[in-house]
Amino acid sequence: MATGTMFFPSDFLWGTATAAHQVEGNNANNDWWQWEQGTGHILQEHRSGLACNWWENAEADLDKAAEMGTNAHRLSLEWSRIEPEPSRFDKNALERYRQILQAMHDRGIEPMVTLHHFTNPLWLVEKGDFGTAVVVDYFQRYTAKVVEVLGDLVPKWVTINEPLVYVFMRYLEGTFPAPQQKGWPAAGQALRNLLRCHAAAYHTIKERQPEAQVGVAKNLVIFAARPSQGTAARWWAKRLNWLYNEAWMEAMTNGRSRFPFGRGQIPHLAGSYDFIGINYYTRFYAKFPPLGGLLHEEWEPGAVVSDGNYGEVYPDGLFQVIKSVLRYDKPIYITENGVPDIKDEIRPSFILTHLREVWRAISFCFPVMGYYHWSLVDNFEWDRGWTQRFGLIAMNPETQERELRTSGQLYTEICQQNQISSEMVAKYAPQSSDILFPGKAPA
Ligand code: FCB
Repeated sequence: MATGTMFFPSDFLWGTATAAHQVEGNNANNDWWQWEQGTGHILQEHRSGLACNWWENAEADLDKAAEMGTNAHRLSLEWSRIEPEPSRFDKNALERYRQILQAMHDRGIEPMVTLHHFTNPLWLVEKGDFGTAVVVDYFQRYTAKVVEVLGDLVPKWVTINEPLVYVFMRYLEGTFPAPQQKGWPAAGQALRNLLRCHAAAYHTIKERQPEAQVGVAKNLVIFAARPSQGTAARWWAKRLNWLYNEAWMEAMTNGRSRFPFGRGQIPHLAGSYDFIGINYYTRFYAKFPPLGGLLHEEWEPGAVVSDGNYGEVYPDGLFQVIKSVLRYDKPIYITENGVPDIKDEIRPSFILTHLREVWRAISFCFPVMGYYHWSLVDNFEWDRGWTQRFGLIAMNPETQERELRTSGQLYTEICQQNQISSEMVAKYAPQSSDILFPGKAPA
């Protein structure tokens, strides 16, 4: 292996990411909690329960994040805590969020706050949530309240987390809490309402806090055709890419939704973002013809696949998705990237090889301003329960005991030194040295 160093800009944001329901514990007033009580919804009938106990003590993990040398963290607000009944805003819940946000500032950690990360208050579900246009006014009002109370502590906002994942899992796949109506027409309507909610939230924030940076966290995946397939399969993979990756970005840019069953102009949507948040995890092979599902679940020979068949490790894809959003000409944040790996066997190399792609992008002067690793600590992974562990810190949900993983030590060195060195690669992931520092060591 050659020796060398990949330097990052001095103002680069080194972060981690979490979401309210996955870490807070006892979020009993939302649709996920209710869904967890039913049978057959969550792998091994797991429940979020106390989760990582952040509602009581987020500070303990924030201490660790600060010790690691991170200077940013992405978290989300739980709407059902803030507005437990329509129009009743809970002062104590808002006060607790102020404490958590202040605790981050006190530790030199800049918050990025997501308004909607997969969960809904139960009262909103009764009203039909994203299946009906009434959601827009409710979302707007909730946003106005939290910006009024918390805005001075929040420089960066994410309105909606992964709209396409959310709609796909809930309206088509059925692995997320059931909406009042499922199927493609309902999915199209939900996407349209999510776009309207986003636009309403964007302007609500900017009116009250013009200096805030507002965006979405968009899950981007690589859709490929199987190498053995021909032109038609490649054409189909491109269509899926448009539908899943591009159509949302296009709509936010020009104000027009082209989603099937959700088409049309949306007032105040055009240009409603200041940055692009990319959540990147993996590459998928599109099924062609698309019979019995849209995606293959088997990988090509030689692929490195993470726990529970979650996905293939494909670092090149991160560079590709960064490149694909350059046309929008906005700052880019990697708002999520990580891997389920309870034994921490592939995570050190995963982190290094993915950060190499970020470094490469920065070397081309692509405006990547920060990286938020998913996740700081093992947490409740939605329909996969506690079976998948994404944390830099391992946590036992039965005892709440924590331990920094080896990959957490690596991330600490990277954040503290603001660089990746060949020494780190030799120490943590020698098997990836030829990818990271190709060539021979000087004689
Ligand atoms: C993303 C979600 C996040 C977490 C990671 C693993 O799709 O935004 O909450 O579940 O995947």
